[in-house]
Amino acid sequence: MKVAATLTVNGVAYPLDLDPATSLLHAVRDAIGLTGSKEGCDDSECGACMMLLDGRPVNACSYLALQAEGSEVTTVEGLAAGETLAPLQEAFLEQGGVQCGFCTPGMLVSATALLAANPHPSEDEVRVGLAGNLCRCTGYDGIVRAVLSVAGS
Ligand code: FES
Ligand code: FES
Repeated sequence: MKVAATLTVNGVAYPLDLDPATSLLHAVRDAIGLTGSKEGCDDSECGACMMLLDGRPVNACSYLALQAEGSEVTTVEGLAAGETLAPLQEAFLEQGGVQCGFCTPGMLVSATALLAANPHPSEDEVRVGLAGNLCRCTGYDGIVRAVLSVAGS
């Protein structure tokens, strides 16, 4: 059985027919075609799937798509302004916050939420704020530097 639903992602309304068990991650990646958000663990452990739901970070792999109806969903694709990267995205590139890139969409989404809630975080607050996002490559230092470099800007 499929259910008609409209998901609003990055300001665009997408009418969809969804199995009620479809996760927000699969709806956005497979039904809508925005593949920036990644599936790592599919179990709320790695943060690769992180999206904002009305500004609040959620692990989209563990969130039902139908629960997101009526909310504003933001994915990594929604952080840039057209072809212009957000300052945080630029900072990840400049500070060595990206290697394989698999964690990067989730890191950017979590860091965006962190800075919205706390524009002047300490290094410890950045590390705690990103504790739900795992990275196998960078050792985290470049990521933390990137977030601190745009904090308060
Ligand atoms: S894929 Fe969602 S937390 Fe890992
Ligand atoms: S850059 Fe590879 S997992 Fe983070």
